Amino acid sequence: MPTPPEPFDVIILGAGGAGLFCAAEAGRRGRRVLVLDHAAAPGEKIRISGGGRCNFTNLHTTPKNFLSENPSFCISALKSFTQHDFIALVNRHGIAWHEKTLGQLFCDGSSQQIIDMLLDECAKAGVTIRLRTKITAVEKSETGFRVETDAGPFACASLVIATGGKSIPKMGATGFGYDIARQFGLPLVEPRPALVPFVFDEKLKSRLEGLAGVAVDATVACGKTRFAEALLFTHKGLSGPAILQISSYWAPGREIIIDLAPGTDVFAFLKEARTAQPKQDVETILSRLLPKRLADRLCALAAVQGRVADLSDLRLRALADAVNRWRIIPAGTEGYRTAEVTAGGVATSALSSKTMEARTIPGLFFIGEVVDVTGHLGGFNFQWAWSSGWAAGRNA
Ligand code: FDA
Repeated sequence: MPTPPEPFDVIILGAGGAGLFCAAEAGRRGRRVLVLDHAAAPGEKIRISGGGRCNFTNLHTTPKNFLSENPSFCISALKSFTQHDFIALVNRHGIAWHEKTLGQLFCDGSSQQIIDMLLDECAKAGVTIRLRTKITAVEKSETGFRVETDAGPFACASLVIATGGKSIPKMGATGFGYDIARQFGLPLVEPRPALVPFVFDEKLKSRLEGLAGVAVDATVACGKTRFAEALLFTHKGLSGPAILQISSYWAPGREIIIDLAPGTDVFAFLKEARTAQPKQDVETILSRLLPKRLADRLCALAAVQGRVADLSDLRLRALADAVNRWRIIPAGTEGYRTAEVTAGGVATSALSSKTMEARTIPGLFFIGEVVDVTGHLGGFNFQWAWSSGWAAGRNA
């Protein structure tokens, strides 16, 4: 006789932010909830997030901070459970926090406090969490779903997929959620790494060699989208918040335009300096705007060097363009190995924006990063995990 499956009302696959938050809410409604995860610890991405302090939400969260094929999809969930609701929960747990910049809220202590808060909420709601559990199959049954695992079979009326995206496979990320969507005939928006550093081709890498570690405030644009934040040169290419943000909008072959001195008309600045200090080297003049190493390299690459008095308007314009309108086509990104998130995922057209339930498969829900809703850098991805988790937790 095969083992009869252990019955639950709700099974949640994935003990990350979205899964744990959903579990606590469903448990509070009196549902018998089981969370399954193959990892050895829950909330591993929360633990490493925000440099160990978890940027758990953003004060200024609006639907504009999210990418999706349907930009309106996130509105309902974000409205139903807001950043202020999450802050209130954090406050109830006595977790001290601070705003770092641009509305980004971090724990004063450590990310572990957010994990402990979620586990405490789950415990109070009677949620069962089973870690180190390999899920081998998911099937639809007459009464709901059957989940086969290496710890035996489980059954449920509602199944919530919260297994995240493919980012950082070393931490246990898998394409499992996408496989389940495919199995049930749900459409996918092709997943791609996002919030990820760019890499250069060998030629550009050698031209910029030695700049690793140089950081500047910059404006970075791809098409009509633009971000003004810090930019960092790395050994392989470019990183820093401005680059991570724009990477979510970039596609292979597309050009990005970087202003390394935003707010300064570098041509006008150089011309003024040519009149005021004609004997100075252009490298020295440019280093008033940019770190010296970067100023020297840009002058060398533009072949605009030496006494500024000897340089024509044309030469100064060429240098100014290299600073204000540096155009590059990245060779690629660092990929899922370092991407903070996966853009794309389960198509929102397949889901109810109010409940996260699949329109064609009653009882099957998708929440968090596995869904084609991707936040900007700055606490928005966790807010999506909480809001979408809450929506499903109210309905699963
Ligand atoms: P998440 O990936 O957190 O959880 C999925 C769970 O499913 C995991 O526990 C995994 O083990 C499990 N799982 C996967 N496949 C499985 C399988 N086949 N079987 C069983 N279990 C499986 N965001 C933000 O807002 N602020 C921040 O500060 C940061 N910082 C940050 C730093 C770094 C380094 C990264 C990589 C990411 C961030 N993020 C972030 C993004 C944020 O971590 C991410 O968007 C959320 O954790 C997504 O939550 P989910 O619960 O959807 O997936």
